[in-house]
Amino acid sequence: MIPKRDAKQILAQLSDTEEFSSIVDNVAIIKNTNFKTRKSLESVVNQEMLDNFQKIEEAIINLQRLFEDTKKPILKSQNSHIDEMSYVSLFEILKQSIPVSIPSEIFIKLPRHDYAIKGIKKKLVTLFSSLIRNSIQAMDKKGTITIRAFESNKQVRIELEDTGNGIPEEMINQLFVAHTTTKKFGTGLGTSLAKSIVDMHGGTIFAKNNPTTFTIQLPVYE
Ligand SMILES: Nc1ncnc2c1ncn2[C@@H]1O[C@H](COP(=O)(O)OP(=O)(O)O)[C@@H](O)[C@H]1O
Ligand SMILES: [Mg+2]
Repeated sequence: MIPKRDAKQILAQLSDTEEFSSIVDNVAIIKNTNFKTRKSLESVVNQEMLDNFQKIEEAIINLQRLFEDTKKPILKSQNSHIDEMSYVSLFEILKQSIPVSIPSEIFIKLPRHDYAIKGIKKKLVTLFSSLIRNSIQAMDKKGTITIRAFESNKQVRIELEDTGNGIPEEMINQLFVAHTTTKKFGTGLGTSLAKSIVDMHGGTIFAKNNPTTFTIQLPVYE
């Protein structure tokens, strides 16, 4: 058994990941779907089956409570982000955001100069990892991601352009809405997570096609 103190620390780290949010969201989806299925079957199936649905529902509710309790202390610590804002190098963030193994015909061009950002490094790595992963997935093993950076009005503007197949038409207006995905096994959480991280920094993010470009503005570290 892991001591409780260590377990809490591990959970706090885990809760920062996209995967944890996805587990929490999926538990909610299973609960709602199970509830709807039980309701619609109420008039057709026998009592034993209804009892089984009820048992599933109770188990899911317990699971949901467990996750919510886990999230509570974590949420509290997430609100203290303002204190954690410090100097972060854009190069350092990008270096850590590039996946270890990428297809050999995918090239990533980095900005010419480094920039000083005021932010939370771990969060910014999550933000750029998520955007870079989407670009790689949109390129089908071949293409270029060009990352440019500029500084103006105490903001660092970062443009992430890819030569992939473009943001699908139906996604354009709801790109940053959670659970919207065009991928078979997508979670639809990457871009909404990206947006929440940018918001936390008081920045902005928007996307366009031709060529596919995500533009992010973050505060300069002075
Ligand atoms: N660089 C990109 N090129 C094309 N489409 C993209 C890009 N980034 C995001 N998208 C679109 O936005 C959707 C949502 O992305 P995201 O929130 O990361 O979830 P997921 O990657 O799990 O689908 C994707 O399914 C895809 O349709
Ligand atoms: Mg994604």
